[in-house]
This record gives sequence, structure tokens and C-alpha cells, in this order.
Amino acid sequence: MEKFSTVNDFNQSQEEYLNLIYEIMQNRKRGKKPVAFIRTYGCQQNVADGERIKGMLECAGFVFEDKPDNADFILVNTCAVREHAEDRVFGNVGALKNLKLKYPNTLIALCGCMMEQKHIADRMYKSFPYVGLVFGTHALHQFPELLYRSLSGGKRVYLRDNDDNLIHEGIPVKRDGTFKGWLPIMYGCNNFCTYCIVPYVRGRERSREKYVILSEANEMICSGYKDITLLGQNVNSYGKNLKNSPSFAELIKEIDSIEGDYWLRFMTSHPKDCTHELIDVIADSKHISKHLHLPFQSGSDRILKAMNRHYNREKYLDIVNYAKSRIPDVSLTSDVIVGFPGETYEDFKQTLSLIREVEYTSLFTFIYSPRVGTPAASMDNPISDEEKGEWFRELLSVQEEIAAKRCASMVGTVQKVLVESEKGKDNILNARTSGNIIVEAPGSKDLIGSFRDVKVTKAGNWILKGEFI
Ligand code: SAH
Ligand code: SF4
Ligand code: F3S
Repeated sequence: MEKFSTVNDFNQSQEEYLNLIYEIMQNRKRGKKPVAFIRTYGCQQNVADGERIKGMLECAGFVFEDKPDNADFILVNTCAVREHAEDRVFGNVGALKNLKLKYPNTLIALCGCMMEQKHIADRMYKSFPYVGLVFGTHALHQFPELLYRSLSGGKRVYLRDNDDNLIHEGIPVKRDGTFKGWLPIMYGCNNFCTYCIVPYVRGRERSREKYVILSEANEMICSGYKDITLLGQNVNSYGKNLKNSPSFAELIKEIDSIEGDYWLRFMTSHPKDCTHELIDVIADSKHISKHLHLPFQSGSDRILKAMNRHYNREKYLDIVNYAKSRIPDVSLTSDVIVGFPGETYEDFKQTLSLIREVEYTSLFTFIYSPRVGTPAASMDNPISDEEKGEWFRELLSVQEEIAAKRCASMVGTVQKVLVESEKGKDNILNARTSGNIIVEAPGSKDLIGSFRDVKVTKAGNWILKGEFI
């Protein structure tokens, strides 16, 4: 297997570009702070990238607003995972045209996974002439230089063909949350599930060195983060490209040994590499939440094979049953795709039966969306959209029943929760259990960001209601 070395490539020259940007913007704004607006689509990986872009912009003197109207710099961070995600980006970027007409000095930029697909990036660059900067996921560490070129050169800047598969440490980070945070432990994916675009837009799987992860985890815990999620497309294959690296189970065990009051989560776990050792580590840990997000995608062995998932129903259920036996009340969640090419109603019924057998807390459900360049996009797909829609609704109603039953079984129990936000009225707060279930309870907003105990008094289909003790 190819080995990747970790390089600290957020080098001096990129820092110098940030200083130059600072000067340009100070001159333009006559001492007022330049404003940036960033809209991120897609998964936590994109959110984590967005936090690094914000970190760099902050070093160049920018402040952030949550509306584009007043911004000197607008960035749309795109996702390519399904057609719907892409359509939203097209609509959103189209709508920025009027804003650019009104404020011609605003620089509009596009980045993220869509920009790593040549046909899409070309189309966007051509269709949206008011977009001044385009770059893909592999160019994140060069962002200062690219932004400087756009601001100073008077020309549009477009960098796509950059198949850099390295890790660039040392990029400044400005995290969106103050008590919930993301910690990337690896990038890219080598699995090539036949429906999925991610390996094409995120490059080969590469893990960060253990010492950088431990030091970032330490820093987050010391600065008050209460809920930390380790990120990777398949965290269970952590370390495979590194020499003498711990396994994921060993890594998370080491993080868990850091003192403090926090929860540790991780996503995503691929069933093909999920081990009993990892389940044991969760069961015996102090901080790892009793929650396993384990995407199964389909309950049919025939479809799992066509998806190139490298596990079957039996192996999947073995992990689930082991998790249930070792971790009392473990909360299981998953991703599932309906309407993969060639799926029959018989296959779909196996998905339903798997859902009934596992009893998930919640599911992320998707209708299959063909992605240009993936093997599944050229497979025969005879099922009509109407039929897929019917199956999809059936799936939702089965899951709703299961989730409601699970929620009802929690009435009367006391749960430790992290209070996250105001619901918006009547002093109701949103809190979350270790198993990732939302609990609504009345209370003062001073509680936000702290762990509390809540007595569950009522159950809805997906959420719980309760009272803080
Ligand atoms: N690495 C993660 C998932 C990343 S994408 C994993 O392997 O679990 C998140 C989810 O999007 C996937 O789990 C899958 O359910 C869904 N997905 C990916 N490509 C899709 C496609 N082409 N159509 C529909 N759903 C898709
Ligand atoms: Fe996509 Fe499969 Fe990789 Fe997940 S493991 S990102 S579904 S190719
Ligand atoms: Fe989307 Fe890229 Fe994540 S395609 S799901 S933002 S890795």
C-alpha cells in the first residue's frame, strides 16, 4: 500500500499571504473589519474544512456574519454526495448574482467536494461568471495564496487539478461551537462503494499522526469542549497508512484516558472493519458515548455485494448483537439507501427486516442518486421513481414505529444530557443524551453547554420531553 507522510505544509509563505490579505482589506475598508460569510453544505468533514477556512480568514482580520448581504467575501462550501445536495448549491449560487450586481466588490468563491469533479467545476465556472475563485478539497492549505491572487490580480482564479493526497497540519482553526466540536482523525476514503462519489472527491485514505490528534483532543478538552466527535469516512481503518500506528480502538482508548468531563463520539464506522475490540473499548470507557453509528446501507446480501461493501447481513448482525450484549442500552443509528440499481422488493423487504431486528434509535434514509463516474451510475436501474418513493415511505413508517417504541421505553428514566440550545419559545431547551436522542425540557438558558440529569416524562416519535433534576 502507498504510504503518505504527514507534512506541516501550512508554511511561512501561506502565513505571509494572510498578512498581505490583511493589508489589502485594511486599505479597502479604511480600517473597518472585512466581513466574510461562509455557507457549508454536506457532512462534518466539510464543516471541519469550513472551520479551517474561518481560522485562516480570522488571521487575515476577517469577522463573520450569518447573512451574505454585508459580506466582502462569500464562500459556498459544496457537497457532491447526492443530486439534491448539488441542486441546492446551484440554486444558492444562482441567487448570489443579484447580490454581486448590487455590491460589485464582493468576492464570491466556491470550494468543497463538487469542485473536485471536473464536469461540475467547469460548468459552475462557466455558468457563474461572477464567481471569482474556485478551488477543491485538496487545495485547502493553499487558500491564503488563492485568495490573495483573487483579491490582488483582478482575474478569476480556478484551481482544480490538484491531486495532493497529503495531510497539511498547522492550519489555524476557528471552531463554530464552543462546547461541541469536530476532530478529524483521517481524510479521504479507499473503499469505493459503487454508489459513492466521496473517494473521487476526497482522495485516498490518510490518517493524522496520533500525537497531533491527542494534542488537539487535549486542547479541546482543556478549553471546555464537552462533546467531541472524531471524524473520518471510515474511522475503523485509522492508521493503516502510518508506520507503527495504533488501531482505531487503541487510539480512542488513549483519548478516553484524558481527564475531564466530556463525551467522545466518532463517525463513521464501516461495518467491514468494526471489531469486537472496539466494542469492548466503548463498553469499558469513561467518556465514549454509548452510541454506535453503523451504516448498513442494505439488508440484502446481494445488494451489499453489488455495493462493494465487503460485509454481509450475518457479519453486520454479529457486531450489532455483540454491541447489544456488551453495552447496555446501546443506541444504534445507521444510513440506508433505497432503490440501488437492481434492487427488488424482495431485497427491500430484507432491509425492513434488518431494521426491525436491530431496532435503531434513528436512521438517515436516502433514495439512491446516480453519481457520474461511479460504477453504479452505469448499472441498469429499472425501478421507477414512484416505486422507490413508495418503498421509501414504507421504510420511514416502519422506522417511526421502532423509534417511538424505543422513546416510550425511556419514559420514567433519568438520563444524563448535554444542554445544547434554546428551542425558541417558552424557555424550552434542547438537550441530547449520550445515545444522541433529543430531550426537550424547560430551563434557563444558562444551562446551555453543561451536562445535567433529566427525568424523562413523555415520549414522541423521535424525541423525548422531560424535566431537569
Ligand atoms: N463514509 C460514510 C458515509 C459517507 S456518505 C460511510 O461509509 O458510512 C453518507 C451516506 O450517504 C452514506 O452512508 C450513504 O448512505 C449515503 N450515500 C452516499 N452516496 C449516495 C448516493 N449516491 N445515493 C444515495 N445515498 C448515498
Ligand atoms: Fe463512500 Fe463507502 Fe467511502 Fe463511505 S466508505 S465514503 S459510503 S465509499
Ligand atoms: Fe458531501 Fe463531501 Fe461530505 S461529498 S457528504 S461533503 S465528503
